[in-house]
Amino acid sequence: MYNYLISVIKKTFPRFYIFLKIIKNKILFGKHYIKKKELETFGLIKSVENESFFEYQKKEFFKNKDTKSKTGILEINNSCNINCVMCDTKSSTRQKKLMDLDLCEKSVKQMKEDGVTSVLLHTIGDPLANAKLKDYLKILRKYNLQAGISTNALMLDKHVDTLKEYFDICSSIRFSIDGVKKETYEKIRFGGKFEKLIENLELAQKKLRVIGFEFMIDLVITKDNFSELGDFVVFYKKYINNPYKNMHFNFMNSLSPNNDYFLKNNTLEQHTSKNFYCNYASKLTPYVLVDGRVSACCRDYDGSLVVDDINQNKINTMQNSNGFKNLQQAHMDENGKINDYKLCTSCYVVDNRVDQIWRNIIASILFKYPDENAKFYQEIFNETLEFLKDLNTLNYQKLQNKFLTN
Ligand SMILES: C[S@@+](CC[C@H](N)C(=O)[O-])C[C@H]1O[C@@H](n2cnc3c(N)ncnc32)[C@H](O)[C@@H]1O
Ligand code: SF4
Ligand code: SF4
Repeated sequence: MYNYLISVIKKTFPRFYIFLKIIKNKILFGKHYIKKKELETFGLIKSVENESFFEYQKKEFFKNKDTKSKTGILEINNSCNINCVMCDTKSSTRQKKLMDLDLCEKSVKQMKEDGVTSVLLHTIGDPLANAKLKDYLKILRKYNLQAGISTNALMLDKHVDTLKEYFDICSSIRFSIDGVKKETYEKIRFGGKFEKLIENLELAQKKLRVIGFEFMIDLVITKDNFSELGDFVVFYKKYINNPYKNMHFNFMNSLSPNNDYFLKNNTLEQHTSKNFYCNYASKLTPYVLVDGRVSACCRDYDGSLVVDDINQNKINTMQNSNGFKNLQQAHMDENGKINDYKLCTSCYVVDNRVDQIWRNIIASILFKYPDENAKFYQEIFNETLEFLKDLNTLNYQKLQNKFLTN
């Protein structure tokens, strides 16, 4: 009902929607939001001090086991216009194709019946590299489901009018951008052109932000871009509202099955470990792939994490399918059953408590100091990374005294 009402407001009274959004941001994302993040940080530091990541993951695994996911994933295409070094989507051996529209409708209908409220349109591809984007959005609108788009933005010009038309069901977009210097950007987002990115970010401002679209800008941290994070903030913050909320710096994981780039360029080895008791095996978030098979994970470059098939079974039964239960059992077995899943045995993650501590600190900084220069921010990024490497309450207090108390 809430979603339906908001869609109607977006469509009929766009200016009123923008006004409501400003009020909502003021109420939900002001000082209280930052205070809450600071409190959360204390709790997370204590957790890191008192229990290993393995123990923490195990506890979370059982806490979330078999709960329902409100998010569904629809792989409308598994192709991409570029090949980022930390993702290497081109190494996927699954057949590249666009999802058939009947299959899309069948999936969306079942997701709706299963209580899903928003649907992400990507796995390891780019939704704007899909010429039929409009047709999928039309189906989502029919079932009144919100669409989430994450994109490299390089083909935004091809879909800008469609995005405008479907504002009622898709009003926020995440732009994944991993560099601010042309050389860094083009090295990481391999095949992308920096000038085209900027052209499309400008277009997004003129055509979409003015009607109320909310943008996020995300960066995956690597040794290649860490030294320019300060410049990144200063340059890209003009493209988004509330950078403390909408600009994210995420630690890299071993998304690509080829770990070479990850192992060489991960900035936080101290907190990196194998992904045992993984949350994707704790509860099923259905990744409906282009051909209707359902995978449990976004790292499924070869289909080996497929647990069921929408052509044969319904989404609401898949949590109990043999495929998913086997994957779950393998993660709960501490005697090596996980080795049955080649992708799981080569999967590394940065401790997500440490990732969250980092995100909270950066959010506080961007909130408290919205208009500093690149050098100022870079110094904080450098010191915060050093703090994470030797993470404890005392060091946090030192960091707080230096940057976080005002
Ligand atoms: C796989 S992409 C698919 C959507 C779209 N093509 C994009 O780039 O936003 C989804 C997100 O994963 C991020 N990503 C890619 N490789 C990653 C890695 N190794 N570790 C963490 N995030 C990664 C991307 O930067 C992007 O924000
Ligand atoms: S991160 Fe996104 S844009 Fe980059 S290669 Fe992967 S799917 Fe394509
Ligand atoms: S590959 Fe396995 S361990 Fe890694 S995220 Fe996917 S399900 Fe989890």
